[in-house]
Amino acid sequence: MKINYHSPLRGELSIPGDKSISHRSIMFGALANGTTEVTNFLTGADCLSTIACFHQMGIDITLEEDSRGGHVLVHGKGLHGLHAPSAILDAGNSGTTVRLLSGILAGQSFDSVITGDASIQKRPMRRIITPLLAMGADISSEKGNGCAPLHICGTRLHGAHYDSPVASAQVKSCVLLAGLYADGVTSVTEPAVSRNHSELMLRYFGADLQTGADEASGGFTVSVAPEPTLTGQKIYVPGDISSAAYFIAAALLVPGSELLLKNVGINPTRDGMLRVCQAMGADITLLNEDHSGAEPCADLLVRSSALKAVEIGGGLIPTLIDELPVLAVLAAFADGTTVIRDAAELRVKESDRIAVMTENLTRIGCPVEATPDGMIITGGRPLHGAQIDPHKDHRIAMSFAVAALACAGEMDILDADCVKISYPGFYEDLAALCRE
Ligand code: S3P
Repeated sequence: MKINYHSPLRGELSIPGDKSISHRSIMFGALANGTTEVTNFLTGADCLSTIACFHQMGIDITLEEDSRGGHVLVHGKGLHGLHAPSAILDAGNSGTTVRLLSGILAGQSFDSVITGDASIQKRPMRRIITPLLAMGADISSEKGNGCAPLHICGTRLHGAHYDSPVASAQVKSCVLLAGLYADGVTSVTEPAVSRNHSELMLRYFGADLQTGADEASGGFTVSVAPEPTLTGQKIYVPGDISSAAYFIAAALLVPGSELLLKNVGINPTRDGMLRVCQAMGADITLLNEDHSGAEPCADLLVRSSALKAVEIGGGLIPTLIDELPVLAVLAAFADGTTVIRDAAELRVKESDRIAVMTENLTRIGCPVEATPDGMIITGGRPLHGAQIDPHKDHRIAMSFAVAALACAGEMDILDADCVKISYPGFYEDLAALCRE
């Protein structure tokens, strides 16, 4: 994909549905009694992988697509209604599918194997194997390397407490989902609060969850009671702030831009990007603040702005973890040196995002240093188009499509169609806003 336009972004855009919430609507809908109706479902490849896994376990799910995203009906069969899968479960590129589904599979009365693509088979799964084993699960890594394929023999689980060393919603959600099948209360403490969509949606479906800050450790604890009766619900998925992030960044960078992003999820466990942009001097106004179920959302009015460098670290990191690639692009154009720290998790995402961002920022002429847990980025130099290798990582490809608008010359993004993981219409939407 070659991008050689540099025009301002004008007009408005409805952002496709949130990926994390879309996954959970299928999973929890399948475990509920009755029908769950999902509107503005994200039809990215990751969420389709989740649907395919539940199809294989006997859940009837219909998906229709229109201009407003996916409309899904999940015909749930209750907590104990899944069937043994007809074949190996394939999560594709989706870490959320492997990790959350493993928690569910651990408590079933059947055995299963779950795996995914080459990237998934390199991502760490010990982080879920360890707590599941502590709950009595029978789960192992086929190659003994702590990665997928995972073999899971369903069994009766015990309630347990898990102190997670990482702030990860995928780990937290895996443990909570296993906890639905345990013989007592299950709780998980994480060192900083990660996205809380599972907690909000499980409660909405009728589960009994308690949450609270843990003064002794400074962490956050969630506990869940076993064997709830979950009931199918209507869910309107708000726009994904992680997808909105590319358009926020593009509008900030290209002079003369004024963009209205409609119906974006602004859950405080996900809105760190907005807070960092504002600290960088961004002109972003929240309009029409509302709720979609338990999820807060708003329209975002973004105008081009002169940006200055910031430091990004600590408890903020989990609230913007997926936005760090595009924040690194903003830092490349901001005045001063931006330091990103406490973000070692970036090394185990769809790619090693510290290495891949550093490689590609260097290609466009930006002085950048990789550190074990982040990057030091010197911004404000004139940057130029280059050939970009996103290592098939959707968020890196979209970040450099944004950079293209503010770089001199042409950007050539290899394997550009990897964006279909989370945003199939991304390039079309970007080009359309630049033509308004
Ligand atoms: C996700 C959680 C995050 C995020 C991922 C989606 C989720 O991962 O990076 O894209 O849906 O729970 P971690 O929880 O492992 O940080």
